[in-house]
Amino acid sequence: MTPEDGMTEPVISLRSVRADLGSRPVLRGIDLTVERGEVVALLGANGSGKSTAIRTIIGQVPTAAGEIELFGTPRGRFRDWARIGYVPQRTTAAGGVPATVTEIVSSGRLSRARFGMLRRADHEAVRRALEMVGMADRAKDSVDALSGGQHQRVLIARALAAEPELLIMDEPMAGVDLASQEVLARALEEQVARGVTVLLVLHELGPLEPLIDRAVVLRDGCVLHDGPPPRAVGQHALPGHDHVHPHSPEHEPMRTGLLS
Ligand SMILES: Nc1ncnc2c1ncn2[C@@H]1O[C@H](COP(=O)(O)OP(=O)(O)OP(=O)(O)O)[C@@H](O)[C@H]1O
Ligand SMILES: [Mg+2]
Repeated sequence: MTPEDGMTEPVISLRSVRADLGSRPVLRGIDLTVERGEVVALLGANGSGKSTAIRTIIGQVPTAAGEIELFGTPRGRFRDWARIGYVPQRTTAAGGVPATVTEIVSSGRLSRARFGMLRRADHEAVRRALEMVGMADRAKDSVDALSGGQHQRVLIARALAAEPELLIMDEPMAGVDLASQEVLARALEEQVARGVTVLLVLHELGPLEPLIDRAVVLRDGCVLHDGPPPRAVGQHALPGHDHVHPHSPEHEPMRTGLLS
């Protein structure tokens, strides 16, 4: 392996990254490094800049200053998008044309497919991804007929279908019931065991807690904390936590917010 393969470089590197949205500074000098094989949780209150940080990393938001590298390549020159699977934060907005579950998940495979043609290996990857999130029995259904949590699982399957080296997920557990969260946690565990690098926005560590190597907490567009995740507690124990919703009892700290 040569360093140019991006095998020795950090998978993600941000240095002093600034980004503005609507002339408002949203990221105000972010440093973040994610090494190969790491699972990093991005935490912080609503509006602290988590989604913007992720959208900046994948090039959906331009940087006002600073440097971003993906697999050792400056983001502006990075072309190998098939190495990255992205699950956007779920919105409540209804989609346009209804597609089937299989169509949505297959779209995640297009970056790997030759000339846009899905072949047997691609169809198998789609089927495996649907099985991983427990949605294989809904493969032919229209996504319109799914619940919010099921829809979220389909979006995760779409990212998994590409068999990416880096998974970036923005609140993958939001709106997903506890049983499905366990299914997704196992799917993610399988990815991590294969050496996949993961950066994910979470409101609480929840069932993913055992998988997380490091927690980065944003506050008002700055990194407030970068270090080991707090063990056996939710995000509530972290500095900078200022959500306004009721705190759950000590014996079930993982449930807060996820079911609200
Ligand atoms: N398109 C936009 N134009 C202007 N301001 C924006 C835009 N998108 C986000 N913002 C602002 O940027 C800030 C950070 O938003 P961002 O979505 O990154 O927060 P977040 O940490 O992901 O929050 P949440 O936990 O609610 O998802 C917020 O103050 C938000 O209002
Ligand atoms: Mg967000």
